[in-house]
Amino acid sequence: MVRGRCVRIRTHPIIDFPKRKQLSFCFQKKRLVGEEGDTIASALHAAGIRTLTTSLKYDNPRGFFCGIGKCSSCLMRVNGIPNVRICIAPLKEGICVEMQDKLARLPVAEFFGEPTKTLDFDVLVVGAGPAGLCAALESASRNAPVLLVDENQCLGGQLVKQTHKFFGSREERAGTRGIDIAKDLECELHRLQREGKIQVMTDATVIGYYESKNRHRFGVVKRCEYKSRLYDVRCKAVILACGAMENMLLFPGNDLPGVYGAGAVQTLMNVYGVKPGDRVLMVGAGNVGLIVSYQLLQAGIMVDRVVEAAPVIGGYHVHAAKLRRCGVPIFTSHSIKEVYGDEKVEGAIVVKLDEQWKPVKGSEEDVPCDTICLAVGLTPSTRLLSQIGVDLEFIPEAGGYVALHDESMQTSVRGVYVAGDASGIEEASTAMIEGKIAGLAAAMQLGRIRKKNLLVQYQNQLSQLRAGPFGEKPRIAKEKIAKHVEIGHV
Ligand SMILES: Cc1cc2nc3c(=O)[nH]c(=O)nc-3n(C[C@H](O)[C@H](O)[C@H](O)COP(=O)(O)OP(=O)(O)OC[C@H]3O[C@@H](n4cnc5c(N)ncnc54)[C@H](O)[C@@H]3O)c2cc1C
Ligand code: FES
Repeated sequence: MVRGRCVRIRTHPIIDFPKRKQLSFCFQKKRLVGEEGDTIASALHAAGIRTLTTSLKYDNPRGFFCGIGKCSSCLMRVNGIPNVRICIAPLKEGICVEMQDKLARLPVAEFFGEPTKTLDFDVLVVGAGPAGLCAALESASRNAPVLLVDENQCLGGQLVKQTHKFFGSREERAGTRGIDIAKDLECELHRLQREGKIQVMTDATVIGYYESKNRHRFGVVKRCEYKSRLYDVRCKAVILACGAMENMLLFPGNDLPGVYGAGAVQTLMNVYGVKPGDRVLMVGAGNVGLIVSYQLLQAGIMVDRVVEAAPVIGGYHVHAAKLRRCGVPIFTSHSIKEVYGDEKVEGAIVVKLDEQWKPVKGSEEDVPCDTICLAVGLTPSTRLLSQIGVDLEFIPEAGGYVALHDESMQTSVRGVYVAGDASGIEEASTAMIEGKIAGLAAAMQLGRIRKKNLLVQYQNQLSQLRAGPFGEKPRIAKEKIAKHVEIGHV
């Protein structure tokens, strides 16, 4: 097991990371200390522990990858309960955390004690990122009772780690930091919660869709003290705003502790105030790669360089210019060939690519670093949509398989809506408007509002946001989706 020094961030130009109450817990029979508000993963990381498990076949050390509950590389046993995703599980005083020695063992004690509880709502919203929050607010403010479910402890999805100011339109809060947008949306949500129009369930996962005669029916698992309680949730309309999963790259050493997705790096440093490492190699110069690189510098972490396989930078040039001013070189037509290290990342070999994206012989360069951050794109989370049986189509510009949907975000199954990254990878501003459209359309379907003007207004805002050169990819994606709908797929 690899241990290093403590890596808490105490000074930051934008976020306050005060010292919080200490919580003591046990890891592999050793006593460690974390802080209130930590997840188990962030507490372990802050204590310098990066190895969480070993691979099944070769016994290689493994760390966590996505940091947002999407992959399963962080499964551990907590208080005897197996397969707890510690990147989203809260740290509690006195818990016992163990590595699973490859295979999970079921606990001896009975832990499915309580009977299933049934809940009935007009609208179920899955995911409380910008899309889900806006969808829930829109439906609830039209008097359609909403249940909002998210598997994280806090609301906001990816917004809670975005410390930079947003571009886009005034309506979608351009010039405001993502973290502040998340707080504003949460405030509005609490107001509607107090009025009894929304119920919120955090630390809960929508696990599946079940048959029902005249309702949509979902299984929801709510976690409490690492144990699970099952809810049978019925609704007239559902809005799936499940976000996206980080893409992985194939190269030797990609499973060493210290190879992270950009979301994990952002979560560790901007949500929990924990440094992912000291010297980072960033892979990918799209907006995510550029923004996260700058945020690493703000947290006092060295970014050795950014490598980008394409011949041009994919993100906004203003972000690239900021990085260059800070002395971080960006190498286009370059990629990562392999990562080396005994039990954790110790360095990487980067290589130049030719016009066919093939490695140029002799161009290998050794880059010493302890962290590799992969910002190589996202794939829409469509598992629930696929299980419901909505029509899906592979649209490369949308990031992979996406649910076909009409202009009101309704899929091929009546009453099933989609919004945000789950409907095609884009950005938070468009996710918010898509959420509003889906929330409003669901309320209209339930007869809570009749006028269509607002829907049209939102649809126009969306087109305006996609009008510029950086909106080209999502514009093409949505045009392809519309084409499939037009020829009768929805
Ligand atoms: C690392 C990273 C950096 C980014 N940087 C930027 C940026 O700088 N600017 C920008 O505009 N955009 C950025 N984006 C993209 C932007 O964050 C997304 O476009 C936006 O957050 C999408 O919103 P969403 O609501 O669709 O998804 P998310 O914000 O991802 O929210 C989805 C939510 O659904 C929950 N969920 C998923 N499945 C379930 C389930 N089965 N049950 C319960 N809950 C579930 C998740 O826990 C999550 O909270 C970034 C994305 C990433 C990953
Ligand atoms: S699910 Fe925890 S790291 Fe991916």
